[in-house]
Amino acid sequence: MYYPDEVVEEVLRSNNIVDVVSSYVHLKKQGSNYFGLCPFHNEKTGSFSVSEPKQMFYCFGCGAGGNAATFLMKYENYSFQEALQTLADRAGIKLPEVNYSEEARKREEHRKLLMAVNKETAIYYYKLLRSPKGRKGLAYLVERQLTPETIHAFGLGFADGAGNDLVAHLRSKGFSDDVILEAGVAVFDEKRGIHDKFWNRVMFPIQDLRGQVIGFGGRVMGDAKPKYLNSPETAVFDKSRNLYRLHLAKRSKANEWILCEGYMDVIAMHQAGFTQAVASLGTSFTEGQAALLKRYVTTVCLAYDSDEAGVRASRRGIGILDSAGINAKVINMRPAKDPDEFMKRFGKEAFRERIRDAENSFFFEVRMMEGQYRMDDPAQRTAFHRAIAGKLCAFEDEIERDNYIREVCARYRISEEALRKSVASYRRVGGGNPSYGRAGVTDSSYGKSGGGNPRRQQSVLDGQGDGNIPGDIPGGEQRRRNERKDTAAGRAQRCLLTWIADEPSVLTAVRPYVGAEDFDEGILRKTAEYLFGALESGAGQGCVAAVIGQFADEKEQEAAAGIFQEHLKGITEKRDRERALRDLVYTVKNDAFRRLMQSPEPPSMEEMLRAKRELEKAGQAKFAL
Ligand code: UTP
Ligand code: MN
Repeated sequence: MYYPDEVVEEVLRSNNIVDVVSSYVHLKKQGSNYFGLCPFHNEKTGSFSVSEPKQMFYCFGCGAGGNAATFLMKYENYSFQEALQTLADRAGIKLPEVNYSEEARKREEHRKLLMAVNKETAIYYYKLLRSPKGRKGLAYLVERQLTPETIHAFGLGFADGAGNDLVAHLRSKGFSDDVILEAGVAVFDEKRGIHDKFWNRVMFPIQDLRGQVIGFGGRVMGDAKPKYLNSPETAVFDKSRNLYRLHLAKRSKANEWILCEGYMDVIAMHQAGFTQAVASLGTSFTEGQAALLKRYVTTVCLAYDSDEAGVRASRRGIGILDSAGINAKVINMRPAKDPDEFMKRFGKEAFRERIRDAENSFFFEVRMMEGQYRMDDPAQRTAFHRAIAGKLCAFEDEIERDNYIREVCARYRISEEALRKSVASYRRVGGGNPSYGRAGVTDSSYGKSGGGNPRRQQSVLDGQGDGNIPGDIPGGEQRRRNERKDTAAGRAQRCLLTWIADEPSVLTAVRPYVGAEDFDEGILRKTAEYLFGALESGAGQGCVAAVIGQFADEKEQEAAAGIFQEHLKGITEKRDRERALRDLVYTVKNDAFRRLMQSPEPPSMEEMLRAKRELEKAGQAKFAL
């Protein structure tokens, strides 16, 4: 057991998931469900749904789903216990002592251990920087014009000589070699055995949303390579779902955030009072990070290096931000190389002006494109104008598009009429494929990684565009199904469970024919067991949240939530419904029979006959709904 059932149930029952989610996501009621923009992936149209009767959420785009506790775990990066504690606090319930399942307890303990190693390591490096051994590191940071306050606030540290001083220290604190290695602060090789990963580097601890240390970046003293060495991904360090200093930026009141490339840039920004600055973590900016930013701001200013690589990264960043529905702007850093240098040379007032003058991403891209054409050649000029027309197609909103057309024509002295015609023809040819950065006909070399918004594409491909309520969005669902290598039988099982969850009385009708054991082993069978058990002991529709809560693992909770999305569509007549139910029951039974016959241990004759009789009985079942 994970937590006593009754407790989880009570806590979930005492919180309305609509209220819980509403404090993070703007929800709109539509039918019996609520919809909004999914906080767990990038999207512009809401495929994130919350069901009040079932007390669960599900995203048709990315498949994230679960109950109120799962939501908090995903959103706040909470453990199950923390999520439940938060919900209990919200409802004024006092939780008893935790009673984890063995597996969940182990996982939780493991995460805590890795966090503890990271924390202890941060303290170790922090102290070392302030000891005689850290003199070199401190001198380096001071030379880079960091104040003592900044050095302290960022928890900066120093890793001195190569060896295993850190490993020895961590061992003395009782951590095993396995845990030390898994936390990523030490490495193992045949020649040297286990030894410290970082040496001769100033250390930048990386914290999660809650300020807990989850990894490190280390900058080498001098010009050795690599310049920065980062912790590997671990069970607690997901580089694509965290941002450097996000936990502080989220407290800033700024409407527009600043996205930098490097740790030093962020530190320089914060030191100058721009606490809305964040950076990716030694890898390029990801969609997950954009989704994270989307929670806090609608506009992000890119403060990347002014060199060619920085421009390329900016263009890539614009594509990602745009798909996330974030308005992107680009800060001109010239003549400085990067924000760190800019701040040193020109100061914060000048930077404030640069933020104010940050270039709208459309004009930034047009300007970058401009350099690729020779404007004194009419053919090239034409090509440039066509490329602009291609970009303009990306704006779906007519008023917005119109404004850009006017402005770009004025700036580049293009005939408005000609450009309008060109845009119109592109939009016809391209079928109005909207996303910005991708619609460009000539600029396939950058922008989004292929695919763009998968939901939009697939809903066209699969041609089932019935989408009369957002919950019926076919594309995302289709994708989930493909991922699961779906079969008709799997679908029937999910459909039956969804139906029962929607109308608990259906269980009474089908119970003589099907049991939980008829469902596929694994998540489906467990869900059936939990659901049937709960409903038979008198619970109502709201028990779905508790059923999901029975799974310890977040992924399993998501899968369970996904099961309850298989709605029968378009069948309303009583007789049709009854026939559909019989078909479902039969399909489920038939598949169970097939499984029995194909099982590695052949069934006994009695078993076989009994199964056959049950199948026949199900085939003749008559339901009265
Ligand atoms: P930069 O090389 O632009 O860093 O890399 P910087 O901030 O200007 O470095 P300084 O000022 O010379 O100290 C930007 C970011 O890319 C990652 C790091 O996260 C760095 O902050 N990076 C860079 C690495 O992970 N490894 C490297 O070798 C270089
Ligand atoms: Mn740089």
